Amino acid sequence: MKGSFKVRSVEETWKLAASLAKELKRGDIVCLEGELGAGKTTFTQGLAAALGVPGRVTSPTFCIVQEHESPDVLLVHMDLYRLSGEDDVLAIGWEDYLERGAIVVIEWPERAGSLVPAGARHIVFRHGDGGEDERAVEFR
Ligand SMILES: Nc1ncnc2c1ncn2[C@@H]1O[C@H](COP(=O)(O)OP(=O)(O)O)[C@@H](O)[C@H]1O
Ligand SMILES: [Mg+2]
Repeated sequence: MKGSFKVRSVEETWKLAASLAKELKRGDIVCLEGELGAGKTTFTQGLAAALGVPGRVTSPTFCIVQEHESPDVLLVHMDLYRLSGEDDVLAIGWEDYLERGAIVVIEWPERAGSLVPAGARHIVFRHGDGGEDERAVEFR
């Protein structure tokens, strides 16, 4: 997927995530950028539902990485918000997670700096100007 999409509800964000899910394959890395509340975790929930992986996708307070495994796919969901730089990111086992053939979704990829592989997809979330539930989602 490429381009910008305007979504007006959580349901539309989930639908957008479902369209992306169809394109994803093992080993893909998806970086989700945007401020707090922009919709990164909500999008990941839609992705998890579309991929059919079990477990609730949450914004982890203590847990930086959550794994959701189905017979078909492993979804690794990272939220790097609380980490302060590349050393912290390496310490969570970054390289192992990236080499497992999982679909890896990363919130706050900025924290990982140059550790983010060149082939990663980047999706940017912004609040829209058309009301509280509107978001602009840009696939780079
Ligand atoms: N169109 C939308 N897409 C995503 N979230 C939305 C939308 N409209 C309202 N929201 C709300 O905005 C909040 C987004 O939070 P969250 O997904 O946790 O953001 P982030 O992970 O980027 O910090 C949730 O409370 C969600 O219900
Ligand atoms: Mg989040």
